[in-house]
Amino acid sequence: MNTLFITGVTGFLGGAVLEKILNSDQAVNLLLLVRASNPQEGLERVKANMRKFHVHEDILARLNADDILIGDLANAHDFLSDPRLDQVTHVLNCAAVASFGNNPLIWKVNVEGTLALATRMEQVEGLQRFLHVGTAMSCTPEQDSLVAESAEFRENAEHLVEYTYSKSTIEQLMRQQCPRLPLLIARPSIVVGHTRHGCTPSSSIFWVFSMGLMLQKFMCSMEDKVDVVPVDYCADALLMLLNSSAGQGEVVHISAGEENSVRFADIDMAMAEALEKAPVGDKYAQVSYETLVKMRRELKHIFGPCNERLMLKAMRLYGAFATLNVRFSNDKLLSMGMPKPPRFTDYIARCVQTTQGLTIPEQMAVDFK
Ligand SMILES: NC(=O)c1ccc[n+]([C@@H]2O[C@H](COP(=O)([O-])OP(=O)(O)OC[C@H]3O[C@@H](n4cnc5c(N)ncnc54)[C@H](OP(=O)(O)O)[C@@H]3O)[C@@H](O)[C@H]2O)c1
Repeated sequence: MNTLFITGVTGFLGGAVLEKILNSDQAVNLLLLVRASNPQEGLERVKANMRKFHVHEDILARLNADDILIGDLANAHDFLSDPRLDQVTHVLNCAAVASFGNNPLIWKVNVEGTLALATRMEQVEGLQRFLHVGTAMSCTPEQDSLVAESAEFRENAEHLVEYTYSKSTIEQLMRQQCPRLPLLIARPSIVVGHTRHGCTPSSSIFWVFSMGLMLQKFMCSMEDKVDVVPVDYCADALLMLLNSSAGQGEVVHISAGEENSVRFADIDMAMAEALEKAPVGDKYAQVSYETLVKMRRELKHIFGPCNERLMLKAMRLYGAFATLNVRFSNDKLLSMGMPKPPRFTDYIARCVQTTQGLTIPEQMAVDFK
């Protein structure tokens, strides 16, 4: 039987994959990397995350402390000697500091710790697949483009945040330093919500759309498109890729692509319908970041109690990505047998319902860890 080692199961993407595995009765041995002080505490952290995906308690009872490998990628050598790693046949590496903030651990975890893990797993004889979760944004895409997958990165590319820089660096280092690793790289585009559970598992990024519409101003135009997929689609794609025969070193987008990316105007209309109110429509103005800065005193009135500086920082960072109007080709994934993804606007009502009563500052905390 296969032994699947998953990192990042207490997070959004890793959690969505574990949900699928637990609900599918797949015959697989699990080994789950978790940060905690002991296996029982680690197990409780995993279960707490699974409850956000509404996994039934009877199913959760099948998980046990022996499935947990306690470890922190910031101190990877403390857990890499665990002999259970030698039995692993498949790795799904979802763990990362996925933050646009200045988390001091970004490099240590996303680059150094991840490289140490890849180097260790390269030594495992029975390893069939090391599926690394990258990010489509790590290729520093050109504005207004449809991006095809490429393992090449532009030299001296300017990254908007250290996070994407760390993600492009680790891909290159794994290729250079782990030539025998059965590496496959999945690059999701922008993962927002879950088609059934909305934002209960995570409100990551959803608040950006609500924020722009509440302000009636943002840096993108209503005609710009955004490439969003739901986390459950992303999880299905990761599981398909884990067992696929894709060649070593291949890069695959998990994305909405040209066909299923949506315009901000579509998001406005779908949100308005979910909230049973009029869309912002013509009242919306595309503005510069400087205009938003001048509105800083109004932010408390629009969003309630908030840290003005953090709100402005969020607008600057996410506004820069929103104006890219970039779509990531999903031809490769579809040719491998994945169905087309749902559009963001198809399930946005679930995201709206599950964030009601939460302020924007409360929703955005998850992205500024
Ligand atoms: N969400 C998106 O839109 C998106 C898009 C493209 C790519 N991705 C990629 O998908 C992956 C997962 O992202 P996500 O959205 O699921 O992020 P997330 O919800 O923040 O989850 C991150 C996971 O990584 C774990 N982790 C962080 N630091 C760690 C460390 N030092 N040692 C061990 N584990 C650590 C976290 O554990 P704790 O619970 O202990 O913190 C958590 O389980 C990342 O590689 C990200 O780059 C995400």
